[in-house]
Amino acid sequence: MIDIHCHILPGMDDGPEDYRSSLNMAKAAVDQGIHTIIATPHHRNGSFNNNKESILKKVSQLNEFLYAEQVPITILPGQETRIYGEMTEDILYGSILPLIDISEYVFVELPFGNVPRYTSELFFDLKLHGYTPIIVHPERNRDFLERPEKLYELVKNGALTQITASSLNGRWGKKVKVLSEQFIHANLVHFIASDAHNTTSRPFELSDAYEQIKRYYGNELLFYFMENCELLINGETIHQLEPNPVRKRKILGLF
Ligand SMILES: [Fe+2]
Repeated sequence: MIDIHCHILPGMDDGPEDYRSSLNMAKAAVDQGIHTIIATPHHRNGSFNNNKESILKKVSQLNEFLYAEQVPITILPGQETRIYGEMTEDILYGSILPLIDISEYVFVELPFGNVPRYTSELFFDLKLHGYTPIIVHPERNRDFLERPEKLYELVKNGALTQITASSLNGRWGKKVKVLSEQFIHANLVHFIASDAHNTTSRPFELSDAYEQIKRYYGNELLFYFMENCELLINGETIHQLEPNPVRKRKILGLF
């Protein structure tokens, strides 16, 4: 398995404090069946700033360390950036790091309480410059919970989204779990990832989430999510199903 959203770099954000803790996370990931992780430290979220250069350097140091410790896992560079107006310029000339450094895909974290008004304009601008935004954990945004049509509009206009494994597993409560399922039913989700921060309170839980996807939606959707992660790390174009408006009631047997 590939995990495209994970806080595993030591001493950078609210992930592991040191190399020993990163090592424990890497071992837990391997136990889940994960062989590749995109490390995505927080950036400009009000608490942490981790620019492109510092992430690239730490990723290569962690890979060397894990190789020496004989842990069979590869760490690739990424970044979880809180949305701001000059993101496009900073991808082109500055501190923002697209996923795996060279892809056209960029993680965008929205504030938890709202979707800023300039979001669709910024996304349009990103697309214009050849970059595709991936909205991380939209299921934990209060605005999307009250107005899911906002996510539909953004996806219809070309944004992608990533749901967190533990949201599907119920760790963030029933509302978040149900909203995650509604987004999946409406074809508004393109990736599942762990967003793991440690091995205790924010663990991987990726295999459990995939197991649930398989059980409730079948193999076809499971392969869709897993293949998209593979396409992403190979720098290829992501598969997208035709998005639909969110329906309030679950429709069983849709897939
Ligand atoms: Fe994250």
